Amino acid sequence: MIEFRNVSKSYGKDLVLDNLSFEIKEGQFAVLIGQSGCGKTTTLKSINRLIEPDSGHIFVGGKEISNTDPVKLRRSIGYVIQQIGLFPNMTIAQNIGVVPKRLKYEKEEILRITRELMDMVGLSYEEYGHKYPSELSGGQQQRIGVLRALAASPSIVLMDEPFGALDPMTRSILQEEIIRLHKKLNKTFVFVTHDMDEALKLADIIIFMDKGRILQMATPEEMLENPTSDLIRSFMGKRISDSTPVYLTVSDFMRPDPISVYKSRSIRECTAIMARRNIDSLLIKNDDDTYAGVITVNGIKKSGKTTGSIGELPISQNTISYVTEDASEAFDKLLNSDNDYVVALNEDDTIAGIVTKTSMVRAMADALWGGDGS
Ligand SMILES: Nc1ncnc2c1ncn2[C@@H]1O[C@H](COP(=O)(O)OP(=O)(O)OP(=O)(O)O)[C@@H](O)[C@H]1O
Ligand SMILES: [Mg+2]
Repeated sequence: MIEFRNVSKSYGKDLVLDNLSFEIKEGQFAVLIGQSGCGKTTTLKSINRLIEPDSGHIFVGGKEISNTDPVKLRRSIGYVIQQIGLFPNMTIAQNIGVVPKRLKYEKEEILRITRELMDMVGLSYEEYGHKYPSELSGGQQQRIGVLRALAASPSIVLMDEPFGALDPMTRSILQEEIIRLHKKLNKTFVFVTHDMDEALKLADIIIFMDKGRILQMATPEEMLENPTSDLIRSFMGKRISDSTPVYLTVSDFMRPDPISVYKSRSIRECTAIMARRNIDSLLIKNDDDTYAGVITVNGIKKSGKTTGSIGELPISQNTISYVTEDASEAFDKLLNSDNDYVVALNEDDTIAGIVTKTSMVRAMADALWGGDGS
C-alpha cells in the first residue's frame, strides 16, 4: 500500500531521512515513533508530497507518487495535524465538508457523509453541526479534525501527533475512538506519536525511528517482548527495581491527580474548566472530598441547563476501584465496563486517580522488565 524504497532527504548537511525502506500494508494501523527530530513528520509529509525526498522511491497503491499530481494525491489522502487546524470561520459541518465540496460532491451527499461521520463519534449533527470550532472543547475539535480527514473517504489517513495536546483522559477516549474507526472503515492509518503507550495501544505495526533510520519495525507484542535496543527499551517506560513486589496494585499504574470539582461549583465554571483544560469529562466530589461521580460535556449539553450548580445535574457513575486493589481486578473491571476509565479511590473514598487502558499496557511493560536493576 505504502512503500519507501531507499528514500533519503537532507537539509543542508543534515541527513534527515537516511536510506529509508519499509512497507505498510493495506488496512494496517502503522505508528511511527521516535525521539524529537528523528524524522517522523518528514516521513509522513513525504507520503502526500508536502516534502519531496532527494532520492529514492515512494509508492502509494503501487504507483510511484513522484509521477502523480500532488494536489490530486493530497485530496486522496486524509491528513490530521496536532494543532487541529479547523477553519475558525466555518461551522463544524462546513469544516467536515471541505474536501468533498472541493471534489464537487452533491450537497445532499456531503450532508449525508457529515451526519454519518458525526454520529460515529457521538457528536450529533443537530447539536454541533452549526456550531463554530471555538464553541467546542479541545477533544471535540480534534474529533472533528479526524472526521474532516475521513470525509472524502481516502484510503490512507496520515495523523501527526493528533492527540498530543490533549489531557490523558480525553486522549484515552479519542484513542479508543480511533481504534473503533479504524476497525470499522478498514483504511490504512499512519500515525505519528512519541508516546510508546499510545503506539502500543493503537498499532498493528510500530516503526521505531532514530536519526532518519528504522531501528525496529515490529508488532506491539514483538516490541514489548523483544525490544532490539536500549533506546526502544527506555521508551517503554520506567522499569521497576528488584525490591518491588511482582503483584501490582491500582496505585502502581493509575494516573494520579485527575482534575476534579466540588458539586457546588457552577455549571458555567465547570464548562469553562473543561474548555480550558481540553477535557470532555470532569470528576465530581462531595463537600467532604469523597467521590460523587462523573459529568461529561455531553451530559451538560443534554440537560439544557446553563445556570445552577453541577451537583444539580444527573451525575453518572463510572466503575471504581480502590488503590490497594490488585491490578488485575481493576483491569478486568475496565475491560468489562463501558467506561473509558476506572476511577481509583483512596480508602476514605477520596479520588486518587484514573486507570485507563493505556495504564494497563504500561503496567504490562513494567512487569516484563521488572527486576533488571536499572
Ligand atoms: N524545513 C526544514 N529545514 C531544515 N531542517 C528541517 C526542516 N524540517 C525539519 N528539519 C529537521 O529535520 C529533522 C527531522 O525533523 P522532523 O520534523 O521530521 O522530526 P520529528 O521526528 O517529526 O520530530 P518531532 O517529534 O519533534 O515532531 C530535525 O532535525 C529538523 O530540525
Ligand atoms: Mg514531528
